[in-house]
Amino acid sequence: MLRPFPATAHHRCTLLLLLTVTLLPSLAAAAAAHHQHLHDHAAGDGVVISQADYQGLQAIKHDLTDPYAFLRSWNDTGLGACSGAWVGIKCVQGKVVAITLPWRGLAGTLSERIGQLTQLRRLSLHDNAISGPIPTSLGFLPDLRGVYLFNNRFSGAVPASIGNCVALQAFDASNNLLTGAIPPSLANSTKLMRLNLSHNTISGDIPSELAASPSLVFLSLSHNKLSGHIPDTFAGSRAPSSSSLKESITGTYNLAVLELSHNSLDGQIPQSLAGLQKLQLALHCVDQSPSVRPDAREVLRQLEQIRPGPEGGAGPSDEGGAGHVAAASAGNE
Ligand SMILES: *[C@@H]1O[C@H](CO)[C@@H](O)[C@H](O)[C@H]1NC(C)=O
Ligand SMILES: *[C@@H]1O[C@H](CO)[C@@H](O)[C@H](O)[C@H]1NC(C)=O
Ligand SMILES: *[C@@H]1O[C@H](CO)[C@@H](O)[C@H](O)[C@H]1NC(C)=O
Repeated sequence: MLRPFPATAHHRCTLLLLLTVTLLPSLAAAAAAHHQHLHDHAAGDGVVISQADYQGLQAIKHDLTDPYAFLRSWNDTGLGACSGAWVGIKCVQGKVVAITLPWRGLAGTLSERIGQLTQLRRLSLHDNAISGPIPTSLGFLPDLRGVYLFNNRFSGAVPASIGNCVALQAFDASNNLLTGAIPPSLANSTKLMRLNLSHNTISGDIPSELAASPSLVFLSLSHNKLSGHIPDTFAGSRAPSSSSLKESITGTYNLAVLELSHNSLDGQIPQSLAGLQKLQLALHCVDQSPSVRPDAREVLRQLEQIRPGPEGGAGPSDEGGAGHVAAASAGNE
């Protein structure tokens, strides 16, 4: 973003923030919780799939294209679906609880009728070539905990309905073709720990409600077209709901990784970032024109003023190596 660069340049520059973290035990535990796989073998419990789930899976198969015929086992009248014969499907009591089909070369679109799988907990379709919208119906699945759609070709906006998912812990739709704004309703998913919408073309502001979310541990919005100021609601300092404010006072605000680089954000580093005890910060402040690029050390000095340097924390030159990698690998299952 090109703009006049006055004497207070370092206060007004385009901010590229990359905040990293040392993995604290609590953070590792959070990552492990995210990581929880449905390890039980898909041997099935002898209960035949429900009609609604069977039809939902048929619709999903119909709308996907499957060049390598990975879904050829979805071929019978449903008897095999919950007995382990249908690849990528796990059931409990005749209800589909997990769809796990990453790296299968799948294209086509994801059917809205996925909403018929009313007990779905985990949807893992990352690293395919699926296009079209993220189904709005996902927002009406009360048990949905993990949604992994990264590295696909999904387009359109993140459905605001996702905020209805009361059990949602992880939503990763990074590296797609998503546009539109981030729905503020995502802050209504009060168990959401990991949100990764990086590497899309999402625009608009960062919703202040989202920044105030006490459940978030990982928030990655880098490589988008976000604009406006970074909200001053981190750590719930100006949380819209009193419960978020209470969480921040009682110290349960957990944000540990905040990735905002490669957007068009501007304004000052918000005061509320000072409250993030678990964050280590590496900060870049650049402008498109090298002649007006501010001194990074000056920006860090500004940051130090709002948040005294962490004891033994990584210095300004530690540009987020190990912590970032660890966090990323924790997320990408
Ligand atoms: C369905 O697919 C499985 C696995 O590919 C195969 O063993 C089975 O014979 C097929 N059944 C029918 C009815 O085509
Ligand atoms: C979040 O939930 C509250 C009630 O629980 C509702 O009033 C509000 O409209 C929701 N916010 C959004 C943005 O959907
Ligand atoms: C977010 O997604 C990007 C791209 O998939 C990945 O490189 C990054 O590590 C992720 N960040 C977090 C905090 O999960």
